[in-house]
Amino acid sequence: MATLRLGDVVPDFEAVTTEGPIKFHEWLGDSWGILFSHPKNFTPVCTTELGQASHLKPEFDARGVKLLGLSVDAIDNHPAWVGDIKDATGATLNFPLIADSDRKVSDLYDLIHPNANDTLTVRSVFIIGPDKKLKLSLTYPASTGRNFAEILRVVDSLQLTAKHSVATPVDWKNGDDVIIVPSLSDDAAKEKFPGGWTTVKPYLRVVRQPGA
Ligand code: BEZ
Repeated sequence: MATLRLGDVVPDFEAVTTEGPIKFHEWLGDSWGILFSHPKNFTPVCTTELGQASHLKPEFDARGVKLLGLSVDAIDNHPAWVGDIKDATGATLNFPLIADSDRKVSDLYDLIHPNANDTLTVRSVFIIGPDKKLKLSLTYPASTGRNFAEILRVVDSLQLTAKHSVATPVDWKNGDDVIIVPSLSDDAAKEKFPGGWTTVKPYLRVVRQPGA
């Protein structure tokens, strides 16, 4: 297992999931993707996360992002947990969940951190672009549930900055003003942003979000 860094093509794999076997790269196709790990089935924090991710699936769909969860339990263990997720959160799991009982994917993506726990995975999130390259990774401990609104916010930033010569400032939300990337000269910026911008510092030029 090599360290996975931003910009790397993410490792491909075959896995058993609640929606049948998948070949990861083929399953991604030309879409954006999010792979996120869960320490174990029938655990409380994971249950809330999978419910919330399912509630938010229409938002991910609208952005062309496919969701793929992972848990290290065996596939015959998943359906009862899916039932519990429905009972506890009201959400029917609506994306595939990998049963990584042989830890193949967990090893490929370095999801077991033995100094934290040698059997449970950490809570990682990998956002993958249509080019299969890693755009973001984050890792939380098992005891802290992730914030899926933040994950959507990052997707918005990544999709915007992939298309336009902008970056997004602190606490940015879709529709807020953005920053013109420093590598774009003022002359080049005039062509891309004919409506003009505000120069706070020569390296900090604030402009209306393109398309907003
Ligand atoms: C949980 O998902 O609730 C959890 C899993 C492992 C350790 C602590 C909490």
